Amino acid sequence: MDTKEIQSKLRGSIGKEILFYKTINSTNLLAMEIAEKTPEGTVVIADSQETGRGRLGRTWLSPPHVNIYMSIILKPVIGTHDVTLLTIMASVACAKALGEATGLNVSIKWPNDLMVSNKKIGGILTELKIEHNKIVYAVVGIGINVNIEHDAFPEDLKETATSLKNETGKAYHREDIVSRVLDEIDIWYGFLKKMDRKKLLAEWEKNTSTLGKKVKVIVGKETLVGLAESIDNDGRLVLKLPSGERKRISSGDLILLR
Ligand code: BTN
Repeated sequence: MDTKEIQSKLRGSIGKEILFYKTINSTNLLAMEIAEKTPEGTVVIADSQETGRGRLGRTWLSPPHVNIYMSIILKPVIGTHDVTLLTIMASVACAKALGEATGLNVSIKWPNDLMVSNKKIGGILTELKIEHNKIVYAVVGIGINVNIEHDAFPEDLKETATSLKNETGKAYHREDIVSRVLDEIDIWYGFLKKMDRKKLLAEWEKNTSTLGKKVKVIVGKETLVGLAESIDNDGRLVLKLPSGERKRISSGDLILLR
């Protein structure tokens, strides 16, 4: 990937510094290693990852030449109870950038899956260092399936994953997609820094496919079924159980039931 080209297209300050690797264990791991001595807005990009990390300890498929794997170092001055807003911010930015680049309807499945026609096209893994109840740094890791062919997905992902190319039949220039995503992050991170929660949550609600649906949520060893009613001010999912009781959930695995 041509980082100069990416930088020449950027409008904001996110991505002014880009570290590029042909291959690396995980861009999130490297970003966390360097975050403390690196300015906010630095981005780590790799063409492939050996141990790409997904949420909940899963692996993230990371073959070379086809997709986007990148991690953004941020140092937000926000309370630790507001960290969910980082993922909300990143998922809004990605959904908008990908939608604008391709014309696809990209929606967000709570908490942070990027979906096209009910299949996963990308994901976000936010990792943090917190000390004395303050965020020292946050690393927002973004994986996007861009040009990977459907046949290249392993059997267990063929039904549930897709790529931009798979959906539109067109191949995309990854540099163009990266710069669009970084520009949107710049805009939406701006609202987060101003703590304009309303704006962020309203945009997330506009782009989600989760609310109003019957869902199953797996939280650790517990499985809950109910109506995904709303997200609260902290970005937690408000689940209305059949008993009428409402549960607020900050992370878990969500399956749409209808
Ligand atoms: C998910 O499980 O949906 C989150 C996937 C996040 C993958 C990205 S790829 C770039 C960054 N580096 C990693 O190791 N993971 C994230």
